[in-house]
Amino acid sequence: MLSSVLALVALIPAFVLAQSPIYGQCGGQGWTGPTTCASGSTCVVSNPFYSQCLPGTAGGGTTTTAGTTTTGGTTTTGGTTATSTSSAPTSSQTPAAGNPYTGHNIYLTPFYAAEVAAAAANISDATIKAKALSVAKIPTFTWFDTVAKVADLGTYLADASAQGKSSGTPMIVQIIVYDLPDRDCAASASNGEFSIANNGQANYFDYIDKLVAQIKKFPDVRVVAIIEPDSLANLVTNLNVQKCSNAQTTYLACVTYAIQQLDKLGNVYSYLDAGHAGWLGWPANLTPAAQLFASLYKNAGSPSFVRGLATNVANYNALSATTPDPITQGNSNYDEIHYINALGPALSSAGFPAHFIVDQGRSGVQNIRQQWGDWCNVKGSGFGMRPTSNTGFTAIDAIVWAKPGGECDGTSNSSAARFDPHCALSDADQPAPEAGTWFQEFFVTLVTKANPPL
Ligand code: BGC
Repeated sequence: MLSSVLALVALIPAFVLAQSPIYGQCGGQGWTGPTTCASGSTCVVSNPFYSQCLPGTAGGGTTTTAGTTTTGGTTTTGGTTATSTSSAPTSSQTPAAGNPYTGHNIYLTPFYAAEVAAAAANISDATIKAKALSVAKIPTFTWFDTVAKVADLGTYLADASAQGKSSGTPMIVQIIVYDLPDRDCAASASNGEFSIANNGQANYFDYIDKLVAQIKKFPDVRVVAIIEPDSLANLVTNLNVQKCSNAQTTYLACVTYAIQQLDKLGNVYSYLDAGHAGWLGWPANLTPAAQLFASLYKNAGSPSFVRGLATNVANYNALSATTPDPITQGNSNYDEIHYINALGPALSSAGFPAHFIVDQGRSGVQNIRQQWGDWCNVKGSGFGMRPTSNTGFTAIDAIVWAKPGGECDGTSNSSAARFDPHCALSDADQPAPEAGTWFQEFFVTLVTKANPPL
């Protein structure tokens, strides 16, 4: 009797205290595993699909500061004019009116800084830890991938406004607008929270209205926005995928609404996402792509602050490769600068004189993919060129870090609802957590393989 009681007691800890390790999953839609975290970490909701054990007790996640409602703010009167001293834009200007990065400092998002700090705390090698910490000083975009995160934008803008006033140099807050209904229509890893069948377009308009209400409160802060990664590129090449063809009208309506509403603010410069060299950069795709971007732009009324296109967002291509990666064979546009130089004239002749920003955040190491279409957590990647508006190319306004390095591209767990087979390929780093959540091992590799070095 006693021995059987002891046996039972011995079993209890393993059963009751099943815990996820640090950075492991601890919740999310369909999750049946442990919901408590190893000591020293806390379960933080990352998105509806994933909660993650993050070091410390506060974590990042969606710990919101008391539901800030968007009441139009304090002192603005509609906020249609940017008040920054240098080259304040007016609505009569064309996209060629000026590089939005000129004369501004870029705001460092506290959310990413916290992710980096937590990650560094778990690196024991002092040299790597110091390099890791330095990443928090490099500006990245913040992805507004759920409506719940929009309240954070108000906090960032208030912070940026104060920083701009105290330094005398106005600030830029960099955002990614990313919440389309039926999002990521040709893949699975980043399927979003809204569906077209369930009021998706109205929900999206409301999401945009909420972003706009936050921005309106801070006309002195300039916002650079990348609009909906992958969406229009999917409409160029993936209409054979039913989810994409079904989404076509809605994507166009939603992206149009987004750029029109943001344009009215007068302090938001938008760049439509344009895939990358290995996608729309294939010669056969250039003209259809240019036509789609230009027609959307013109149908939206040629908004003054739609400055151009963003390329290579969350991808791994070089800006200017020393030699073409063998996987690019057959495409003369084997890197981003060749792609941009080929697309630019086609856009101009179609009526959209676009400028570009290019993500180089994770492009430090080349020739590591087995196929050009591999996009998920590419093994052996390193941080790339640092953000700068001194790009050396007149078509390119800035080199940016759009994908926050260390946040995952997609889960490698084949039983997850958002599993995409690309994330289980042999050149994909594994095991990988859900898209957007922290991938510690991948981050450490980005740090150690950074090129230029950190
Ligand atoms: C994910 C988003 C995330 C973004 C930045 C995307 O792949 O789907 O949830 O915010 O990456 O990490």
